[in-house]
Amino acid sequence: MKKLRYGIVGIGKQGSMYAKRLQKGLDKNGALASVCDICPKRREWAKEKLKNVPVYEDYNELIKDETVDAVVVVTPHYFHPEIAIKALENNKHVMIDKPAGVYTKAVRELNEYAATKPELIFGIMYNQRTNPLYRKAKEFIDSGDMGEIKRINWIITNWYRPQAYYDQGGWRGTFEGEGGGVLTNQCPHQLDLFQWLGGMPKSVRGYAKVGVNRDITVENDVTFYTEYENGASGVFVTSTHDYPGTNRLEISGDGGQIVIEQKLATETMVIHRLKTKESEFNRVNEKFMPFLPKKTKHIKTGMFKNAYRLAIIGQHINIFRNFSKAVLYGEKLIAPGVEGINGLLLSNAVYLSSWLDSEVNLPLDEELYLTELNKQIEYEKQRS
Ligand SMILES: NC(=O)c1ccc[n+]([C@@H]2O[C@H](COP(=O)([O-])OP(=O)(O)OC[C@H]3O[C@@H](n4cnc5c(N)ncnc54)[C@H](O)[C@@H]3O)[C@@H](O)[C@H]2O)c1
Repeated sequence: MKKLRYGIVGIGKQGSMYAKRLQKGLDKNGALASVCDICPKRREWAKEKLKNVPVYEDYNELIKDETVDAVVVVTPHYFHPEIAIKALENNKHVMIDKPAGVYTKAVRELNEYAATKPELIFGIMYNQRTNPLYRKAKEFIDSGDMGEIKRINWIITNWYRPQAYYDQGGWRGTFEGEGGGVLTNQCPHQLDLFQWLGGMPKSVRGYAKVGVNRDITVENDVTFYTEYENGASGVFVTSTHDYPGTNRLEISGDGGQIVIEQKLATETMVIHRLKTKESEFNRVNEKFMPFLPKKTKHIKTGMFKNAYRLAIIGQHINIFRNFSKAVLYGEKLIAPGVEGINGLLLSNAVYLSSWLDSEVNLPLDEELYLTELNKQIEYEKQRS
């Protein structure tokens, strides 16, 4: 059977994990064809640990390699759009890691280029879209049973990162190296799910606090408020200095409510399905403080069983399996690359709102965003 041959650009922490899993045969429709890294130590590692694959220094070489069908971009985020476009130009299928890039202008250009190559599959590593609980939430919403969404709230403050994390240097935790802090590095999955489940807002008001309890130049404590065309609203809270922190998503709709909570070893989900939509119930009800008839489902998953285990072991390879089948057999992509811009647009809007101290309407002014981002990079340089 034909396998999809992957070339991985960037074999640091994440890319090397993908390389090893592909070589272990965890995707039966995929194989590792080659890898590339600008860092000599990573190339040495690859020559020693990965069997029989060419190891390149320059991604332009990997992209021209005829044994590569699909390029996986796992470098620091600034390079994702540029490398992805080059790979598409060379008629390779492309999977980028999250976030799609740092600013939407570059990602929009990538999306526009990808649209000129509809024969190529373009995906993004939004592995948390494979989590069965978020998929159940999506099903409930898409089925219409949830009705109009009224509110989406996510508190995700369990991204604990000590000063030592920020002191490790490199590209992490700076505007120059990665374009931001917790919103850019830790939260892209939740920002994607926030819009995947709740839709894109029409406006955002954000407060991105820099260096809370840490000596850093990027945000590590964020609250933002969103408003939607249908009158719904949302709140998102994240930080890297709370401990142990919380990860709780709550979505309310006319037809019910979903609550998903993750703790270290367990994930729980509660779905309340109203027997009659709240708006309809309210129209005919005469009681002052009624209980609404509903059906409630509790789902609990344990560390070594289902969702949490999948989170550690299975989510990323499931995205590869889906991507391989998308190329080979036309399976629908779980995470199309063009959707990478949505979560990034949210985070760009939060930064812009915070920097300008005002509400930001979407779609945002991309040139203005880039100007303001460059100002942050300049402040950062002056501080160091
Ligand atoms: N999907 C996920 O769950 C997940 C998890 C962690 C990281 N990531 C993403 O993966 C990317 C990499 O993160 P990481 O933790 O592996 O970082 P890392 O620093 O460990 O690895 C990045 C590697 O890219 C190499 N590199 C940089 N520029 C390059 C270039 N132009 N050509 C070739 N190689 C180049 C570096 O030398 C390094 O080895 C980031 O965008 C990050 O957000 C995704």
